[in-house]
Amino acid sequence: MDNLVEEAGLREGISEVIATTQPLSGTPNAAPVGILSRGSEYRVRLYRGSKTLSNVRETMRLAANVTRDPMFFVRTLFGNLSPGDFSLFHGFPVLKEANSWVLFRCRLVYEGTDSLLFLLSPLAVAIIRARIYAINRGLNAVIEAAILASRYNIMKSNREREQMMRKMGDYAEIVERCGGRREKEAIRLLIDELQKRANQNRMVSKNLSMLL
Ligand SMILES: Cc1cc2nc3c(=O)[nH]c(=O)nc-3n(C[C@H](O)[C@H](O)[C@H](O)COP(=O)(O)O)c2cc1C
Repeated sequence: MDNLVEEAGLREGISEVIATTQPLSGTPNAAPVGILSRGSEYRVRLYRGSKTLSNVRETMRLAANVTRDPMFFVRTLFGNLSPGDFSLFHGFPVLKEANSWVLFRCRLVYEGTDSLLFLLSPLAVAIIRARIYAINRGLNAVIEAAILASRYNIMKSNREREQMMRKMGDYAEIVERCGGRREKEAIRLLIDELQKRANQNRMVSKNLSMLL
């Protein structure tokens, strides 16, 4: 099974994927997470306050969906997908458009103040499209920008937010230079969403509009 997980795209280090989960009763949820892999051990660290964490605590299941579409990372960072974006594997939601997915059983191994660490055991693997891609700096820059944006709410000072703005500008430049249509669409959506959140902070808000 571990070889299959690697074939599905979860390689040594941290793999950025879209986690799909669901509560015992209710609608499926999707959000970006990093799956940590060392040897044949897979883990995920889930920060408190997310829907993903509350769903995992209820069902102890998480599917790691592998996709290279940056729009999924930005859309699921700020909200959920529509029901039509999911398909069901034995009742568990996975992404219809995933290139591959791995359904994991989760076991809580550490409960920290800010986050909980789960050990993951693969239950099922699907490889739908095995495609070969060269590295695209635009795609990498969108992912870095999305990670930065995910920390926006915990940034306490204006100085931190302004530093974030500068980095965001650098990523946006890389996307414009190296990205394809999907990457450009994703960085614009990301900056739009941040703009909405920054409305109360005039300085950051002004700088964000200059990036568009
Ligand atoms: C590329 C990327 C990787 C992320 N990895 C994690 C992670 O490993 N653990 C986590 O708790 N949050 C991670 N986040 C942040 C969550 O995706 C974010 O808090 C999200 O809003 C949670 O959504 P939810 O409430 O629908 O679960 C990541 C964000 C991005 C953009």
